[in-house]
This record gives sequence, C-alpha cells and structure tokens, in this order.
Amino acid sequence: MNNAALEINGLRKNYPDFSLRNVSFSLPMGSIMGFAGQNGAGKTTTIRLILNMMARDGGSIKVFGLDNIADEQKIKQDIAVVFDDTYFVENWKVIEVEKALKGFYINWNSTLFNQYVKNFHLSANKRVKELSRGMRMKLMLAVAMSHEAKMLILDEPTSGIDPVAREELLEILLNYVSDGQRSILFSTHITSDLEKIADYITLISRGNIFYSGTKEDLLESFYLVKGGTNDLVKPMREKIIGLTTNRTGFAGLIPESELKHAGKELVTEKASIDDILVYISKEEGTYE
Ligand SMILES: Nc1ncnc2c1ncn2[C@@H]1O[C@H](COP(=O)(O)OP(=O)(O)O)[C@@H](O)[C@H]1O
Ligand SMILES: [Mg+2]
Repeated sequence: MNNAALEINGLRKNYPDFSLRNVSFSLPMGSIMGFAGQNGAGKTTTIRLILNMMARDGGSIKVFGLDNIADEQKIKQDIAVVFDDTYFVENWKVIEVEKALKGFYINWNSTLFNQYVKNFHLSANKRVKELSRGMRMKLMLAVAMSHEAKMLILDEPTSGIDPVAREELLEILLNYVSDGQRSILFSTHITSDLEKIADYITLISRGNIFYSGTKEDLLESFYLVKGGTNDLVKPMREKIIGLTTNRTGFAGLIPESELKHAGKELVTEKASIDDILVYISKEEGTYE
C-alpha cells in the first residue's frame, strides 16, 4: 500500500512454545490502528520486531517505506514507543525526566513537552514513584509526543488505568493524529478503547492474524449465532468460528457471508469486537 506508515509482510518469529506466523498488515498514514488480541497472542513480540529489538525468522517490515533493519537509524527518530511499564528512574522528578531523555532526540521540543506536562496536570516536581499508573502513562506519552515522531507505537497503554484516565488518554491520541501526518499503532486487550478511537483494527490470535482492516468492515463482517443442540447442522456447523456447545445448545461466530446457511430457528446478532476476540481465541488452528 502506498502512503503506509507501517507495512508488515509475512513476518515470522519462532519461540520454543510459540510462533508468530505469517503476520501481515499495514497502517495507513494519519490513522489509528488497534492491535488487539488476548494475552500471549503475540502483540508485544510483533512490536519488538518492528523496533528491531530482536531478530525475526522471516518476512519484511517497512516504516515510512524504509526497511526497519537497513534503515533503522533513519526511522528511529520518527518513531516513538511506549511500553506498558515505565523505564524512568523511580527517583527522578518529572522535570529531570526531560533533562535525561531529550539528548536522545534530534527534534526534541521542550516547549511542547512543558505544554503536555501542564495539560496532563503532571506536577514538574513530583517524583516518578509518586505518580499513579495513569500519570506515569501520561508522562511516557508526553515524552513520546515531544520529539515530533510521525508514528506512535503503544503497547497496552490503557491496561491497569481507571476509566476516567483512559478516556483522557484516548482523547490525547485522537488529537495526536488530527493533522493527518501522524499515525498510531496501539496494542490492547481492552476492546472498548478500539470501538472509540480506532480507524483500523488488526486482530491477532495465537500468533496468527485473524483480521486486518477498517473497524467498520470488521463490525459488519461477523455475527453471533446461537441455537439449540438440534439446530447445529451442516453446512453451517463447519463455518462456525469458536463453536461452543453445552447441554442445551451452541454458540459461535459466523462470517456475514455465511448467514445464508443459518436457519430461521437460530438467533443471530451482530458481534462486537469483544465477541469476535472471545470466539477466535476459542478456535483451534490457524487462519491463513
Ligand atoms: N523471549 C521469549 N522467549 C520465549 N518465548 C517468548 C519470549 N517472549 C515472548 N514469548 C512467548 O510468546 C508468546 C507471545 O507473547 P507476547 O508477544 O508477549 O504476547 P502479547 O503481547 O500479545 O500478550 C507468549 O506465549 C510468550 O510466552
Ligand atoms: Mg504484550
């Protein structure tokens, strides 16, 4: 895709007990992509590979059209990353965090940083250890957004944060991409965040990409289906993703295109992102 901030093709990584298989997706410039999957699905591994923090076993990654390994130094200045735990020294004050980090970036913008500190209500003299998790996250975002990066990569930025702080963070992210020149990839297992701000969604389950595309298309594409035990007949049975059965009946997910196989006796309703995640994680095997 032209104009992609990030383009991943056929990415693979093998651990003894886990494999990232054939991961492909692309993040269009100026947009927010939610990268969702349950714990252990491979989100952090993918992010670490994008940042060339470890070797991959196959595939390619381009950031702003440049190879993430060959052109690592060039693209590093344009990427800002926030992982889910702070890397700041606990005893640092907020102002000292800036002093310590700004030297790493060519385009560090002190005015912008101070503006974020003010807007986020971070007290300049507080120590990192005195900040709540939401505040720490805001401090990390302030740092990440103060060197004019064109792409923000956030690994579970909202996990463990209370709903009010989460709402504020989402607002901050929406503002960040509002000029159309910046893009955000953020991983999460909290799907309500995605429903609110993501333009695109990539779903990963056990190292496989299940879906990557617009949020609207995703929400149009899958239905929940439920019925009594006797209603579970072919050919629909084979089309159900994450089929769960109990004594009285069954439930699962079906692609919109297979709705025609569902008889009138079945209950179908549009699936939420959460439903989709739940059922794909029940499904064994791979999606390729
Ligand atoms: N360095 C490592 N060595 C071996 N296995 C690892 C390593 N890092 C992660 N894994 C495994 O890879 C899988 C995916 O992990 P991760 O990418 O962190 O998932 P997520 O971020 O989606 O929760 C997990 O099963 C994890 O145990
Ligand atoms: Mg992770």
